[in-house]
Amino acid sequence: MARLTVLTVPDARLRVKAKPVSVVDDMIKSILNDMVETMHAEDGIGLAAPQVGISLRLIVISLDGETIYKMVNPEIIWRSNEESTCNEGCLSVPEQNAEIKRPKAIKMTYLDENGVKQSIESDDLLATCIQHEIDHLNGKLYIDYLSSLKRQLYINKVKRLKRYEEG
Ligand code: NI
Repeated sequence: MARLTVLTVPDARLRVKAKPVSVVDDMIKSILNDMVETMHAEDGIGLAAPQVGISLRLIVISLDGETIYKMVNPEIIWRSNEESTCNEGCLSVPEQNAEIKRPKAIKMTYLDENGVKQSIESDDLLATCIQHEIDHLNGKLYIDYLSSLKRQLYINKVKRLKRYEEG
């Protein structure tokens, strides 16, 4: 396994719609494992492939560090009308967070790392996290739900943070 570099805003690669995976082979399994390692190393609860510069529809999620979801071609097939608000952060927008309103419950399907179709219904943090990660596959970030002024403020903060880190 290898730890991958997480891209941060305003990297243009975060804005590209990712392509579906045609076959879940050893290469895909290897990418998923590298994504899990990277997510844990960065103390994240979810990571999407575009965040590590790979334009494929792959996401990994682990809310508790134990149960790990590796999802290929995830797709939301139902969203509740009821919404809930969650304080979201993102490894691509480091050290920032904001209250984001999304559908509270979802039903979704995906292929697991063996290429077997799975489905999940969730109405808690997992539902929020899945929606956040699938947004990444469509080139969308949680800051897009904020006003353009606030979004630009966040991007500027991350740019300053990165400049500081790079010395
Ligand atoms: Ni994110």
